[in-house]
Amino acid sequence: MSLQQKISQFNKVDLLNTSTPLNRLNNLSRLYEREIYIKRDDMTPLAMGGNKLRKLEFLIADALAKNAKIIVTAGAIQSNHVRQTAAVAAMFGLECVALLENPIQSDDANFLHNGNKLLTDLFGTRCVMCDELTDPQAQMVELIKKLDLQEAYIVPVGGSNALGALGYVQCAIEIEQQTPEHIVFDKIIVASGSAGTHAGLAIGLQELLPATQLIGVTVSRTQQDQAPKVEKLQLELAQLLEIKNTPNIQLWDSFFAPMYGMPNSAGLDAIKLLAQKEGILLDPVYTGKAMAGLIDYLENSTEKTPVLFIHTGGAQALFAYSEISQTI
Ligand SMILES: Cc1ncc(COP(=O)(O)O)c(C=O)c1O
Repeated sequence: MSLQQKISQFNKVDLLNTSTPLNRLNNLSRLYEREIYIKRDDMTPLAMGGNKLRKLEFLIADALAKNAKIIVTAGAIQSNHVRQTAAVAAMFGLECVALLENPIQSDDANFLHNGNKLLTDLFGTRCVMCDELTDPQAQMVELIKKLDLQEAYIVPVGGSNALGALGYVQCAIEIEQQTPEHIVFDKIIVASGSAGTHAGLAIGLQELLPATQLIGVTVSRTQQDQAPKVEKLQLELAQLLEIKNTPNIQLWDSFFAPMYGMPNSAGLDAIKLLAQKEGILLDPVYTGKAMAGLIDYLENSTEKTPVLFIHTGGAQALFAYSEISQTI
């Protein structure tokens, strides 16, 4: 059975076509004298796009199959995941309750109310603040009890369980189909957070493009803490798909300081570069930092092999960080 046939066995809701373009970055390719491509998962169809919609296709189908009426999820105030989950819940007539934290303890009005939070509110989400998401799963179970939510379905942080990660196996299939004939990607670069995107791509690429190296750029935690997260999810996904798992997790760890959710200068420079050379918007929490990793590699490597950047979305957060206007 092909990988596509295996994935097609799982229920999916119809989110108006989540397949996205794979394009050459012409100006960056010229600048660094090598083939640089981008997979535009910031252009998935709902709620201004992003990587979570691929996961939600499977997760919301599961919620509906279980007769859920309320979707409960968790994340940061500026969570892209919560924004997209709220939109899909609205689309399917489900209520959405979100448990939110303020990871950088910001009291900036834009951080608290603009960007993703504005959109999450607009989708009609009931937001509940907590001090810190130390054990989100347990905290969501607690919240369901406290609010006496009936027929609730928990979507994990980042939509990252094996079912959600199927969405990124699908993305790997798309990448294989869209890659121009004369191109063999040496490296694919992606932000690695709650790990579903990374694990799904890893399983898909292991099957379809084994010569391509997948690099996760850490955005939330050190390599030492991130690697076991990716590894566990990759194993669960391989078991779900009944395929063998050949873990080969590679992480670049120097680009997320000072901490999750706080911009840094290399990330802001990367945002500016992509905006001014390609007219593409990155974000300060995930894709700016992942692109900073890619740029560092491009500037320091002597290889000239083709590379692919996965744009996982998030530009809505540009409106929440005052650091952006100070960079321009
Ligand atoms: C824009 C963006 N990029 C990357 C990621 C990381 O994806 P994952 O959580 O699947 O590792 C996220 C997660 O929230 C995100 O919002």
